[in-house]
Amino acid sequence: MLTLTFLGVVLGFFGERVLQYTHRTGLFKEVEPFNPHNCHLVKGIDGGSEDIHVLPNGLAFISSGLKYPKIKSFAPDRPGEILLVDLNDDVLHPEPLQLSEGIDASSFNPHGLSVYIDESDGTVYLFVVNHPMPDFKSFIEIFKFDEKQKTLLHLKTIKHPLLKSVNDIVAVGPESFYATNDHYFDSASLRPLEGYLGLKWTNVVYYSPRDVREVTSGLYSANGIAISNDKKFIYAVDLTGHTINVYEKHANWSLTFIKAVDVDTSADNLSVDPVTGDIWTGAHPNLYKIFNYKDEDPPGSEVIRVQDIHTDHWIVHRVYVNNGSVIQGSSVASPYKKKLIIGTVFHKTLYCQLD
Ligand SMILES: *[C@@H]1O[C@H](CO)[C@@H](O)[C@H](O)[C@H]1NC(C)=O
Ligand SMILES: *[C@@H]1O[C@H](CO)[C@@H](O)[C@H](O)[C@H]1NC(C)=O
Ligand SMILES: *[C@@H]1O[C@H](CO)[C@@H](O)[C@H](O)[C@H]1NC(C)=O
Repeated sequence: MLTLTFLGVVLGFFGERVLQYTHRTGLFKEVEPFNPHNCHLVKGIDGGSEDIHVLPNGLAFISSGLKYPKIKSFAPDRPGEILLVDLNDDVLHPEPLQLSEGIDASSFNPHGLSVYIDESDGTVYLFVVNHPMPDFKSFIEIFKFDEKQKTLLHLKTIKHPLLKSVNDIVAVGPESFYATNDHYFDSASLRPLEGYLGLKWTNVVYYSPRDVREVTSGLYSANGIAISNDKKFIYAVDLTGHTINVYEKHANWSLTFIKAVDVDTSADNLSVDPVTGDIWTGAHPNLYKIFNYKDEDPPGSEVIRVQDIHTDHWIVHRVYVNNGSVIQGSSVASPYKKKLIIGTVFHKTLYCQLD
């Protein structure tokens, strides 16, 4: 009897948690299409464009070909690559960047990326979260971008026990960055528990060669991370918590939580409009479909823009919504002048004219 009661309590507990989890993550939401803009697909990117970073001159890096456990890949046998496009063009021509010696291109599996520009000489450092196949560990690769040679010169690989399940990074110096860990458990079989039990155990870590520490925690699944234009705030996504969190950044690199803005969808990577400071994200309206891919009922895409996040009257705009008939699994949306590029975890890339 006691055992049965116990079992009942346990099942009740799990049932409740699963309900909360599915509600919170909108796992099964269906989406109404909404597409006000003039958009077209980018030729030559069919295997994902998980993260995109736009330089001030309109050149953009795209990480493509991500292989992620339990997630669909349209190019499972090809290593990942970093593509370069020029957003000043009306039609984009993605070009793969050559990787220099010092990094194994055949196991390269790029995820989040970020750029640090040395203002004194204009050097562009590209930081890439790399999960080399087949082990799928988390390394941060730092490259120097050689624009003339269309090459990424590998400078160093960073590994650290606190950087165990890195999703995204934001570079804040030539060798320092903030990183989000999207999981707490190392073991793939325990990871689903984080979701079902609603554990808020993922975090943000600050890394520099002399100082590595957790700077915030308590997120269900920390994902995209970005810095405000004035460099005073860090924004980090809680994917299954459906929020974009705002943190104040101190001179000692510590973070203080300011607020969590509910975006009612599973936001992924973040970009900050260099002019308005608005925050853009590609989101997963139905995350369940990402992890349980079906050709006949694919995951949808959603682009969110948050305006005035530092005021009490922020506005969450839904800029683009599609049920997967055009693009599946949007993970990033970056504005440049009157254009918007929308990337996906494993699918195509959309390029839109904003009016
Ligand atoms: C960093 O600075 C903040 C604000 O001045 C302070 O509250 C915090 O204790 C400092 N943290 C560390 C680790 O020094
Ligand atoms: C995704 O996040 C990284 C880290 O914050 C950032 O550098 C990159 O620009 C983001 N992607 C886009 C499209 O903004
Ligand atoms: C998605 O939307 C398109 C057109 O808006 C429609 O033809 C298609 O049946 C929808 N697909 C699914 C899986 O609902």
